[in-house]
Amino acid sequence: MNFELTEEQQMIRQAARDFANTELLPGVIERDEKQEFPKELLNKMGQAGFMGMMVSPEYGGSGLDTLSYVLTMEELSKIDASASVIVSVNNSLVCWGLETFGTEEQKKKYLTRLASGEIIGAFCLSEPEAGSDATSQKTTAIDKGDHYVLNGTKNWITNGASADVYLVIAQTDREKGHKGINALIVEKGMEGFELGPKENKLGIRGSDTHSLLFNDVKVPKENRIGEDGFGFKFAMKTLSGGRIGIAAQALGIAAGAYELAKKYSQERKAFGTEICNHQAIAFKLADMHTEIQAARLLVYQAACDKDANRNYDMSGAMAKLYASKVAMETTVEAVQVFGGNGFVKEYHVERLMRDAKITQIYEGTSEIQKIVISRGILDR
Ligand code: CAA
Repeated sequence: MNFELTEEQQMIRQAARDFANTELLPGVIERDEKQEFPKELLNKMGQAGFMGMMVSPEYGGSGLDTLSYVLTMEELSKIDASASVIVSVNNSLVCWGLETFGTEEQKKKYLTRLASGEIIGAFCLSEPEAGSDATSQKTTAIDKGDHYVLNGTKNWITNGASADVYLVIAQTDREKGHKGINALIVEKGMEGFELGPKENKLGIRGSDTHSLLFNDVKVPKENRIGEDGFGFKFAMKTLSGGRIGIAAQALGIAAGAYELAKKYSQERKAFGTEICNHQAIAFKLADMHTEIQAARLLVYQAACDKDANRNYDMSGAMAKLYASKVAMETTVEAVQVFGGNGFVKEYHVERLMRDAKITQIYEGTSEIQKIVISRGILDR
């Protein structure tokens, strides 16, 4: 077993770290407060090659492995989890889904622009009554011969307003249950497609999260991904990889909070010495460091499973379950190390604590990850 990163992977990690410190750190508090993510910053992420990391160069991507993507997610998330969720959804859910299951025409038309960051994508599965229970789709895509007519509402959609391309999961034939679900490519500006309200969130406030409304939207048949009825499997397969990206985000949030807490503890004095010299603080750092490294190994293992074409449903779910728990616990402890300053926005740890929570919720709650893991263990 070899735990070394290649030289290329180390360089990619360093480039992401530099980008996060020079481009994302300035303004991160303001973006969180104002709940906005400027287009110029999105463009810079595209120019840096972050938007289509695993996409083949043939379609404008960087052609990198999942481990490189995970390393990038970790570094971006240490500084700005709002930026990293934009990267994650575009890479894992939209680009990967299109490259793996899309037609040549769909790839040429959408993937190349998505991978370069010229446009960004959104993944639209969740509904008011279909969050964890994802087969209970109320949105319908009725087959009208050469097109579908799409009606319904999607909720909590990351990149809801800023995306140009939306992968929408909808029910075509209710009698067939999950086998009657399709995944359709919907473009911004299609008649009848409207943006619903923007969510006012606890964390990842820089990324825009909206509901979406579809009212008799005509979607051409050539915009369907895969065979008729493949939509639910498309969503599940895509989310399996997405969970590795979110696990890496959780890992980065935890590591970012830990690094800040460690530095602060070496500067801040109490009772005549730096607080890291008090065992109460030193032991917190020891616990954080150990837990983060355990999470890191799970995340990297899931990425390596994907790169080696092994099944990664379970390893991705374990990585997400564990890393998101570590993110939550570590950020709470980091705020504690900072004491009163931890409660103040300029020290960053309170934001990381708020950002951590979503990693236990989106792309499958922790409880859903346990369903996936237990089914994997029990071979069901
Ligand atoms: N790969 C391929 N196929 C899969 C699969 C996978 N990982 N998981 C399930 N399937 C298939 C099953 O084999 C089954 O097909 P067959 O009938 O042909 O065998 C079909 O899908 C239905 O599976 P289940 O019977 O297991 O379905 P279920 O109703 O019990 O649900 C679940 C399974 C795991 C709970 C699933 O509903 C789930 O993952 N729910 C969570 C949804 C989720 O993650 N939502 C996140 C929203 S997206 C988001 O957050 C993005 C964002 O903006 C950040």
